[in-house]
Amino acid sequence: MKTIVVYQSSTGFTKQYAEWIATELGCKAKELKKVSETEIASYDCVIYGGWIMGNTIVGRDKIKKMNPKQLVTFATGASPDGENTRKAIETQNNLGEEPWFYMESGFRFDKLNLFVRMMLKAMKKSVAKKKEKTEQDRYMEKVLGTSFDHSNPNYCTSLVSYVRAMGYN
Ligand SMILES: Cc1cc2nc3c(=O)[nH]c(=O)nc-3n(C[C@H](O)[C@H](O)[C@H](O)COP(=O)(O)O)c2cc1C
Repeated sequence: MKTIVVYQSSTGFTKQYAEWIATELGCKAKELKKVSETEIASYDCVIYGGWIMGNTIVGRDKIKKMNPKQLVTFATGASPDGENTRKAIETQNNLGEEPWFYMESGFRFDKLNLFVRMMLKAMKKSVAKKKEKTEQDRYMEKVLGTSFDHSNPNYCTSLVSYVRAMGYN
């Protein structure tokens, strides 16, 4: 059974997770922009990792359009893992019954371009103005504009076990 890890990463967290997973499974990790539909068709299982932007898993639409035989998704985000975080991502990305995993990462504010940094500052202001804040609003208000790293190779364990149990490595 042939497996590949494909990822899209802007500041490096998703790339790091993709490499940890690929090392564990003994397969390769490749950037989304470097894979073709023909290449994807040659794999029995494609593990796709994308970072979260406003609860959307970046790049997942693109990999889905390539029709992988079996798709296992992982998402990296700054939010702490928990039921609320997972539910929001699941709903926004229509994950339904599909296998997917969340891996907490962090924020590398310093690595973002000026436009994104300005956008995030504007988001922070608008969250600060909200009268009724959700748990996520409060968290975002606290962390937007800062840099931190909560990534951990142990967060790959569930995905790696799932893929092994399916016999894809
Ligand atoms: C514009 C923007 C929006 C973001 N939105 C969210 C979000 O809705 N939820 C979340 O948990 N993290 C959010 N993040 C944090 C990123 O998902 C997190 O830093 C991610 O791991 C970055 O992955 P990368 O280093 O591979 O690019 C956002 C980051 C940016 C820059």
